[in-house]
Amino acid sequence: MSSQLDSLRKHSLVVADTGDIEAVARWKPQDATTNPSLLLASAADPRYRQLIDEAIEQSKNDTALAMDWMFVLFGREILKHVAGRVSTEVDARLSFHAEQSMQRARRLIALYEKAGVRRERVLIKLAATWEGIRAASRLEREGIHCNLTLLFSFAQAAACADAGVTLISPFVGRIYDWHRQARKVDDIPPEEDPGVLSVTRIYSYYKKHGYATQVMGASFRKTGQILALAGCDLLTIAPDLLEKLAKAEGDVERKLSPASAARSDMPKVKLDETAFRWLLNEDAMATDKLAEGIRRFDADARKLEKLIVSIAAEPAAAK
Ligand code: E4P
Repeated sequence: MSSQLDSLRKHSLVVADTGDIEAVARWKPQDATTNPSLLLASAADPRYRQLIDEAIEQSKNDTALAMDWMFVLFGREILKHVAGRVSTEVDARLSFHAEQSMQRARRLIALYEKAGVRRERVLIKLAATWEGIRAASRLEREGIHCNLTLLFSFAQAAACADAGVTLISPFVGRIYDWHRQARKVDDIPPEEDPGVLSVTRIYSYYKKHGYATQVMGASFRKTGQILALAGCDLLTIAPDLLEKLAKAEGDVERKLSPASAARSDMPKVKLDETAFRWLLNEDAMATDKLAEGIRRFDADARKLEKLIVSIAAEPAAAK
């Protein structure tokens, strides 16, 4: 009998959700996703110190540039172990500024190209705010492919589909966390899990209406959530959960498919800015989680900056 991980691979593309290059090499995923929190953990790891030194050397005392170089150098190393793409996030501080997000995305792509990586192998990650979605829509027209993240609501997904973005990352675990806390319960089973239901609804809507945007379930807390979404285009999974799936035996049943989506009854929705903001504001969970997600990624990016500044200040002999 095959492992759940091997069986899952028959239904969905498996992506590694990590900044740990050795973990990517071990799990041989199709793609990999990073975020500032994951890269903070890897940047503090002595195994990857040489990438920080290289980023500092490339950027001549410009800390923001050093941050971007560091993201790119991790991405370049990760890409040595995946056939597909790596996702690299734009600074969360730009989440409400479309023009600056675009400039930062273009710079990341330019650095990747300087490092010998073609833009087709990179997904620029932007928070799925109204401004992030507008930036992505324009970047896609320049041939820069985007992954819209911190996606907690149907309104965000509908706007991303209309914007023609390459991929969205609807979160599961953070929605589950919010509802677990609100309901004061220890667990919610996958059949009732609002995170699982959110991805299922978004997938059905996309497939029913023939949108090309890929759906990648993200942010998992347990394997049951992953298995409940077997069949989703892609699933990005942290190394500890990849390990659990690899150790568990069994055939995984496909849960999401274009055929089942076609049977769903979901009218097409067109959202302008006012309707988008209204619907998002109506959803307390999505509003909380989007705001908190931006704060958390920003806080971790600031810690990364401090780390880079302190390493750059070390005497040459210590390096
Ligand atoms: C991936 O793209 C997301 O950044 C990641 O899955 C978030 O996971 P978390 O909710 O465990 O931080």
